[in-house]
Amino acid sequence: LEDPIRETGPRLAELLKDAVRGDGPLYRLVAHALKQAIDRGEIALGTVLPPERALARSLAVSRATVVAAYDRLKAEGWLESRQGSGTWVRHPDDTSAGGVDAVSTSRLFLANDGRGAPADPTADVSSDSDVIELSVAAVTGTSVIGDAVESLTRSEIDALTAHHGYVPQGLRALRQRVAEHYAAAGLATQADQVIITTGAHQALSLVARQVLHPGDSVLVESPTFPGALDVFRRFGARPIPLPVDEHGARTDIVAELVDRASPAMIYVAPHFHNPTGAVMPLERRHELGTIAAQSDTPVVEDLALADVILEPIDLPPPIAAVCPEATIHTIGSTAKLFWAGLRIGWLRTPEPWATRMLATKTVADLGSPLLSQLIAVRLLDRMSDVQQWRRAQLRPRRDQMCSLLTELLPDWTFRCPAGGLSLWVTLPRGNAEEFADVALRHGVAIVPGPALSVDEGNRRSLRLVYAHSETDIEEGIRRLATAWEAYISTTASRSSARLLV
Ligand SMILES: Cc1ncc(COP(=O)(O)O)c(C=O)c1O
Repeated sequence: LEDPIRETGPRLAELLKDAVRGDGPLYRLVAHALKQAIDRGEIALGTVLPPERALARSLAVSRATVVAAYDRLKAEGWLESRQGSGTWVRHPDDTSAGGVDAVSTSRLFLANDGRGAPADPTADVSSDSDVIELSVAAVTGTSVIGDAVESLTRSEIDALTAHHGYVPQGLRALRQRVAEHYAAAGLATQADQVIITTGAHQALSLVARQVLHPGDSVLVESPTFPGALDVFRRFGARPIPLPVDEHGARTDIVAELVDRASPAMIYVAPHFHNPTGAVMPLERRHELGTIAAQSDTPVVEDLALADVILEPIDLPPPIAAVCPEATIHTIGSTAKLFWAGLRIGWLRTPEPWATRMLATKTVADLGSPLLSQLIAVRLLDRMSDVQQWRRAQLRPRRDQMCSLLTELLPDWTFRCPAGGLSLWVTLPRGNAEEFADVALRHGVAIVPGPALSVDEGNRRSLRLVYAHSETDIEEGIRRLATAWEAYISTTASRSSARLLV
C-alpha cells in the first residue's frame, strides 16, 4: 500500500447517494452500492476508504450503518483493514482469504460435500439426505457411458496404453471428432486448433490465464454459469454485467459497455444459455463479433450446452464462424449431453493462439485423462443417437416441470426453453435468496439468481434444473409450492406489521 488513493467522505457519498434511497436495511444498501462502484471501476482496487465516521457524516447516516456495511464487505472479502492503515478495497479472490466462490457457496453441490465414508466407490457422491436437488445442471451418465465403455476392445486399450500417456493436446482421434463436429455446425476447424481439456471449465481457465490480468474487466452475461464468474475472479478480473433477455446477451449495449469498461474479454453462451436456455439469433452474433473485431476484444463463446437440443431448431453457427475476423475462443464439453464425470471438454482456438494455449495446458496438468478421451471418441461417434435418446429423456421432464409450475405456482413466470437443462423463473415478489433458504427447509435445493449474477442482481429470479427424475421433479415442485406459501405468508405478515407501526 505505497501511496494508495485515498477516497474522501464527500466524494464517496456522491457516488453512493442514490443507493441509500432504496428499500431494505440501510447498511446492505450502502454495502451493495460500494460493491457496484468497485465493480464498475469507479473505486479502484487498493483505494483507502474514508473512516466510518467521515463517510457516515457525508451520507447523513449513523456511524453504525457504515460500520455494518464495511463489516459485511470485509466478511465477503471486498475490504480489508489494519490498525493504522485504514480500510482499503481489494478483490475478494486475490488472496487465499477467498471463500466467496459461486460454485462452492451456492448450494450447487449440496450432496457432494465429501462427508461420506468412501468404502463404497459411490459413497462420497450419493446423497443420504432427503433434500431434492433441483440445483445441479447436470445429467446422469447411465446408460450411455456403460455402453461406450463396453464397446471398447482390449486391443484398443492396449494400443493406447502402449504409449507413455502424456498427451497435453489430447488424443488426435478426439480432436478430429471435435473438429468435424464444429465443421458440421458451420465452423471450419483443423484438429490442431483443438485442445482437449479437463471439462469446459478448464478450457475457460486456459483462456483466462492467457488473456486476463489482475484488475482487468470482463464483460459477462448476467445471469451466467457461476463457474465462469469464479474463474474470472480467481484471475483477479472484475466481471461487468451484460444483461440477458429471451434472445441471450443484449448486444445492443455491448458497444457502449466495451467503450466504457474496455474489457479484456467478453464471455457469452450463445447456444442454450445457462440458466435461461436462450439461443442468440444470427444478427446478435454478427453484432457481437463485429464489435469484438473492431475493438480487438477476445470473446469466449461457451457451447457447453449446445448439444442438448430438445426441440427441432435451426441453430445459428457459432460466433467464430459468423465473424472469423474476431478473436473467438470456442469451448465445448461432453458433460451436458453425455456425463460430467468424464471431465472431458475442449478449446477450439484461432490458429495463431494454438501454440500458446497448448503451452498453458501443458503447464496446467500435462494433459487430460486418456481413457476418458477414448470413451469420448466413442460417444462423439454416437452423438446423434445419444441426442435422440437424451431428448426422449429430458423433454418429458422439462414439460412436466413447466406444467407443474403453471398448475401449482401460477404467478411465477418462465419461458420453456428449446434446449439446455434449466428453467429461469421469476418470482412475482420477494427475494430469491430468502426463498431458497425457505425452500431448503422444505427439502428442495435451488439456486437463487444472485448466485448466478455478476452484481448479486436478479434477486427475484431462480434456476430450476429439470434434468432430474420424474419423481424428484413432481415432489420437488410440490415442496416448492408449499415453501412458497409459507414464504409469502411470513413476508405478508412482516409487511402488514410494518404498515401497522
Ligand atoms: C455454460 C457452462 N459452461 C461450462 C460448464 C462446465 O462444464 P464442464 O463440466 O465441461 O467443465 C458448465 C457446467 O455447468 C456450464 O453450464
